[in-house]
Amino acid sequence: MRRPEQTASRIDHDPNWWRNEVVYQVYIRSFADADGDGVGDLDGIRSRLGYLELLGVGALWITPFYRSPMADHGYDVADPRDVDPLFGDLEAFDRLVAEAHALGIRVIIDVVPNHTSTQHEWFRAAIMGGPGSPARERYLFRDGRGPDGSLPPNNWPSIFGGPAWTRVPDGQWYLHLFAPEQADLNWTNPEVWADFDRTLRFWLDRAVDGFRIDVAHGMAKPAGLPDFDFGEPPPPGSLPDADPRFDHDAVHDVHRMVRKVLDEYPGRIACGETWVKDNESFAKYVRPDELHQAFNFRLAAAPFDAASVQEAIEHSLRAVASVGAPPTWALSNHDVPRQVTRYGGHAVGERRARAMALVELALPGAVFLYNGEELGLPEAILPPEARQDPMWTRSGHTVSRDGCRVPVPWQGDAPPYGFSPAGTAITWLPMPPGWARYTVEAQLEDPRSMLSLYRSALELRRTHPAFGGTELEWYGAPAGCFAFRRKGAGLICALNTSGDPVPLPPGELLLASCPLEDGALPTDGAAWLVAGG
Ligand code: GLC
Repeated sequence: MRRPEQTASRIDHDPNWWRNEVVYQVYIRSFADADGDGVGDLDGIRSRLGYLELLGVGALWITPFYRSPMADHGYDVADPRDVDPLFGDLEAFDRLVAEAHALGIRVIIDVVPNHTSTQHEWFRAAIMGGPGSPARERYLFRDGRGPDGSLPPNNWPSIFGGPAWTRVPDGQWYLHLFAPEQADLNWTNPEVWADFDRTLRFWLDRAVDGFRIDVAHGMAKPAGLPDFDFGEPPPPGSLPDADPRFDHDAVHDVHRMVRKVLDEYPGRIACGETWVKDNESFAKYVRPDELHQAFNFRLAAAPFDAASVQEAIEHSLRAVASVGAPPTWALSNHDVPRQVTRYGGHAVGERRARAMALVELALPGAVFLYNGEELGLPEAILPPEARQDPMWTRSGHTVSRDGCRVPVPWQGDAPPYGFSPAGTAITWLPMPPGWARYTVEAQLEDPRSMLSLYRSALELRRTHPAFGGTELEWYGAPAGCFAFRRKGAGLICALNTSGDPVPLPPGELLLASCPLEDGALPTDGAAWLVAGG
């Protein structure tokens, strides 16, 4: 087995590290660009590990960096066991993992089992092989409908807009739930299983600490690929909450296979991207013989309103309670608008995002932060011609995820704000003028900055005994407010989304998202306290 670590690893041996970890999502294109091509890369991440240590996160989740034509910015994988030259090479990956481990930071990578790029050698072989060939059996090729087969095999739309089928020159059609460049794999074919097993072991042997599994609810397709009544066509870009094409029972066999592999590598874990409709379905993904954890998007979907946020928290806790898995929390990722903007934008949105950061970081379970949220980045407004998300074109220019994917600003007064080396003229998405106030440099020494709030909160979460325990109890609170306490350990978190300041529960103040007003918690504020102070 390959041992890439030259530097001593400071990773502890706690097999339960993932239950309570703060994981930082690095959208690789947008985090740090070492080679000056305007796109982030592995060496860029490595050059910023000191920052991540200072921030106080315990693990990274790095979005796909494999060989890819980048039709969906890396989620269209042409070779899952190699690094795309845009991002570096395998040696750069090994260096990054070794240096992260030397700082005690774990590394989780993103795997994409639902589909491959149409540039994958398998897909090319399927095109060459023709109808009925074994190579076609790795994907979902079908004859079309209508007398000459010129109609798609069924009525499915793609998640990104447009039909979910594309016709190839010999007349057959292949299924792609996402972009046409992302062909869905046939998970009833043993070769597909064997190849995924190989991919998992390839990266585990290179010392990764775990996987984020893309579209983890998607691999098993409904038998016969029937037409569905989708009701009103889902708005382009809407997330497949109750989509009948997802969440079929056989997908759990795939996750049992993943778990078996991981169990051979103690301390390594998997977290699924699971958009499912109810708690019962959600819990199935995190049964003891399946994934360790799964993303629950309720908190990110909740508006800034105490009742909705409380409902999202209770819902997420209930979802995992029956199987004993820890909850996961996220306020954003590379697919959803930035929270500052979602909560109202400008000063109001920032205040609310600060409050929600304290709510999230007070909760038991794993927290996933998205790069740039600790800087309070808003959604960037981009000119149409600069937008790159495949969803933009496929949705008829109505939806794009580009606004939350703009590169992270590090220092200086003008683009590229230290994201790329000085002199780099163009970043892959343009960085707005006026972002000087968001740079790490501008915020690091300012105790009132978003970055300082995150640093303080993360440090307390890591070191203060009041953050123990796994259960919450709720206090009675005025309308528009809530307060909960972590049972047994004592941390209290209060949130005020009402229009007036409210008194805080008794206790010693640890941290507040904004200055208190005569001891009261102002509108759009949150505070942490410990009982008995
Ligand atoms: C997941 C990813 C998203 C990607 C899609 C298709 O939802 O988070 O960015 O476009 O899968 O792979």
